[in-house]
Amino acid sequence: MQIEQIISDINKQLENELREIDSVQQLEQLRVRYIGRKGRLTLLLRDLKNLPLGQRALSGKLLNEKKQWLEQTLTQLGQRLALSGQRETPFLDYSLPGRKSGVGRLHPITQILNDVVDIFYGMGFEVVSGPDVETDYYNFEALNFPLDHPARDMQDTFYIADKVLLRTHTSPVQIRVFEKRKPPVRILAPGRSYRCEAVNARSYCVFNQVEGFYVDENVTFADLKGVLGTFIRRFFGKDVKFRFRPSFFPFTEPSAEVDISCIICKGRGCSLCKNRGWLEILGAGMIDPNVFKAVGYDPERYSGYAFGLGVERPALLKYGIDDIRLFYENDLRFLKQF
Ligand code: FA5
Repeated sequence: MQIEQIISDINKQLENELREIDSVQQLEQLRVRYIGRKGRLTLLLRDLKNLPLGQRALSGKLLNEKKQWLEQTLTQLGQRLALSGQRETPFLDYSLPGRKSGVGRLHPITQILNDVVDIFYGMGFEVVSGPDVETDYYNFEALNFPLDHPARDMQDTFYIADKVLLRTHTSPVQIRVFEKRKPPVRILAPGRSYRCEAVNARSYCVFNQVEGFYVDENVTFADLKGVLGTFIRRFFGKDVKFRFRPSFFPFTEPSAEVDISCIICKGRGCSLCKNRGWLEILGAGMIDPNVFKAVGYDPERYSGYAFGLGVERPALLKYGIDDIRLFYENDLRFLKQF
């Protein structure tokens, strides 16, 4: 093949290969392929001596020119690649103001829980906690829910094993405390409760309750009303409307529930209050003598009240939010408002 033809082939190939190069490594590989010790141009130059005498001078000239051109081109390309590599390193402008690091904050429910605990702490309640995983005995049986009693259906239960469950309320802490202590006891037991029930604007499958109870001689329903009324006024403000409504719990007699006038709809009715204008926030009552008997307290000598206050519903009313699910979706746009 004529040398002109060979050089023209090399040119075409080089044109493509040079265009593809975008790293120093690729550039070095191309250099080795053409002008390395066994590179294409190097071998052609080495073979010059085998060419007929008449062709050697021209072939040598053309091949050497090509080699020099390639060396120069690769040097320039190498410099350009080195420069663009430098540009990839970040440009630091030290005069820019610094980025603020995000400051964490308490979840709105934790904030409300702390407020609730503070108010009762100020009224002389001692704070204790109990386990989330409970036995049937503490969650139901000792609280006067006999086996197969329909009252168990009031609280749909997540069972973990036979007679082991996620507590459906914080009332089992009453039994755990009564077993260990003698009256007087004035306790507050905040914690999570779990119910396998339909989720809606006011009910969730996990929620917080604050259990409160006071046992001593001569404790009356008037004491219960006094403590709860004080709490409600301190928490919601003195103008809030609330009412005690008769109710039933197996472990209290008499029993009541407390409703707060729905702040969202101003009592007119909405999806949060099921169009009732009132939202139930707690259950309460005088501790049933059967509970005292189960823990060895003398029901003739002692009396006591207990209440179980939800935390999420008061939080909804206080913040003017109409759906409990918002607290658990972990949407930062929502959480950052508190
Ligand atoms: C009880 O759980 C009783 N243990 C309360 C009690 C304690 C009565 C001591 C007597 C003496 P109840 O199921 O009504 O009662 O729940 C009490 C409060 O917990 C409700 O008023 C509500 O504020 C809250 N609550 C109950 N279920 C849910 C739920 N699914 N989601 C959010 N809050 C709930």
